[in-house]
Amino acid sequence: MQNYTQSFGLQWKKFSKTQMDDTDQKQSETRFFATTNWRPEELAGKSILEAGSGAGRFTRVILEKTSAYLWSFDYSEAVEANWQNNSDIAGGRLHLFQASIYQIPLPKASFDKVFCFGVLQHTPDFEASVKSLIKYAKIGAEIVVDFYPIKGFWTKIHAKYLLRPLTKKMSHETLLNILEKNIDSLITIFDFLVKAKLGVLTRFLPIVDLRTIPSTVDKQKRREWAILDTFDMFFPEYDNPQRIEDVAAMFERNGAKVAFAGFVKSSAGTGAVVRGVRES
Ligand SMILES: C[S@@+](CC[C@H](N)C(=O)[O-])C[C@H]1O[C@@H](n2cnc3c(N)ncnc32)[C@H](O)[C@@H]1O
Repeated sequence: MQNYTQSFGLQWKKFSKTQMDDTDQKQSETRFFATTNWRPEELAGKSILEAGSGAGRFTRVILEKTSAYLWSFDYSEAVEANWQNNSDIAGGRLHLFQASIYQIPLPKASFDKVFCFGVLQHTPDFEASVKSLIKYAKIGAEIVVDFYPIKGFWTKIHAKYLLRPLTKKMSHETLLNILEKNIDSLITIFDFLVKAKLGVLTRFLPIVDLRTIPSTVDKQKRREWAILDTFDMFFPEYDNPQRIEDVAAMFERNGAKVAFAGFVKSSAGTGAVVRGVRES
């Protein structure tokens, strides 16, 4: 099925293993439990909905670290990568399918927990996506999302937003070729600026913020991860960062009481997070 998420299908099939080895999984686990504030014990036997699962790094956390039942979907062909990565450990607890957040083919109000990481800014209508997620949580159940934040007027003064109108129109081969050829120089310049305490200038470099890549990965892996995340910043159809307070207001407008809205720091990095509980 082809749709606006085609670039993600390509991305996750090409880099299906990049964020999935043991060290990466430790980071995904840390991010998952820090972001949700859930404990593995409280998830035992629960029904969880994961929206926009990509290659399945958080799918794996749930399957490996809890005994919950997971319904996980993505709108792109990334579901194929997720299935390859996780079907052997699913043990009958994973229901994986390709669908859009706006048309989830499941009964509403049926999940004990709902989460959606790194997805909402890539959907065409952020609030409609939040509204849909809330509808699938049971009354009293929790919904947790993380997303790209707007931190101030400078958020969009960034190589990403300046170049996206161009890069979105390129073929994925062209963009990947350009990245392959230039990534080493970009990494060198990026690291130099950070070392020289000029990190603020890195926003003008056409490369992902390398400080978001776990420091535990080796040089080769860091390069691969840099290509993946830089592709991820230039190619998606939509990139709509939001203010945290605006996302909290979306929760409240759509029937969920906000339990937390702010930045969550962990060894896996810092994420903009909103957690809410469905009230109506
Ligand atoms: C940046 S990736 C994040 C994947 C995964 N959550 C992770 O953190 O590794 C964003 C994902 O959102 C998916 N996506 C975008 N729009 C969607 C929609 N309307 N419904 C479901 N998934 C969507 C994309 O296909 C992509 O796999």
